[in-house]
Amino acid sequence: MDFGNKITRIAVIGTGFVGSSYAFTVMNQNVTDEMVLIDLNKSKAEGDAMDLNHGLPFGYPTKIWSGDYSDCGEADIVVITAGANQKPGETRLDLIEKNARIFKGIVNSVMESGFKGIFIVATNPVDILAYATWKFSGLPMERVIGSGTILDTARFRFLLSQYFDIDVRNIHGYIMGEHGDTELPIWSQTRIGSEHIKRYMEKYKPDGKQEDLDEIFVNVRDAAYHIIERKGATHYAIAMGLVRLTKAILRNESSLLTVSTLLQGEYGLDDLYIGVPAIVGKNGVDRIIEIDLNDEEKKQLKHSANVLKEAMKPVFQ
Ligand code: LAC
Repeated sequence: MDFGNKITRIAVIGTGFVGSSYAFTVMNQNVTDEMVLIDLNKSKAEGDAMDLNHGLPFGYPTKIWSGDYSDCGEADIVVITAGANQKPGETRLDLIEKNARIFKGIVNSVMESGFKGIFIVATNPVDILAYATWKFSGLPMERVIGSGTILDTARFRFLLSQYFDIDVRNIHGYIMGEHGDTELPIWSQTRIGSEHIKRYMEKYKPDGKQEDLDEIFVNVRDAAYHIIERKGATHYAIAMGLVRLTKAILRNESSLLTVSTLLQGEYGLDDLYIGVPAIVGKNGVDRIIEIDLNDEEKKQLKHSANVLKEAMKPVFQ
């Protein structure tokens, strides 16, 4: 008897550091009924599926297999992590040529399967590749979401929580803009509990200095470089951020996350994907939240958008 309950399926394209960490996190957080792993290196995807399946007795029932693009037709979400990642000293924008080149093929292959779900894009430069996925797929913008600055916002909140010795869940603030060197902290809207950070410092951390906060932001912006120098790649936190985004969609959570989404006039910007606060639910990006920015923040966001637009030109000319 069909009780009509929907079987959820996630397709993971790319089982490198990020894709395999994402798959591992999905399995451990009981996110989906089915997960198919797709990689050019079929053997790697098979090995990951085997390795994950052997952990099932310790985790949650999830049907996991290594498949191909035809398996995307029944997927609710396709997560694209495939592509080259930053090498030491490389910026995310340095990856644009080689990763944009493979994206057209990936997106076309997914769409040929009859895919009617939502894309989550993680491959860098994520803002430009999310825009490319939207263009190549022909899907409405709300169903193509880049991971944007969700990880940067998480790093920002974590480092502030360490500085103030406060539970990270009580730190509220955003990193907006490019997921990259031109991202910006929205200090004017950063709060600890309901207290504005500046007021909190006056009352509870009188020895705190703006230079400390500026240093925190630099460490947020440059975190990936420091991790890559030490271990060659970043993957755990981004994988967890991608799962947070996945759950917001599959569980229709209407969560406010700083994803990369298409701006069509919001923040005075148009025709680009960039990291902004948005509400994410079962249909993807439900609406963009236009928070009040001060003049400096508006200027920095505009600069970030200009850098992305300039970098996009070779891909879409
Ligand atoms: C990072 C990668 C996901 O910031 O760009 O760690």
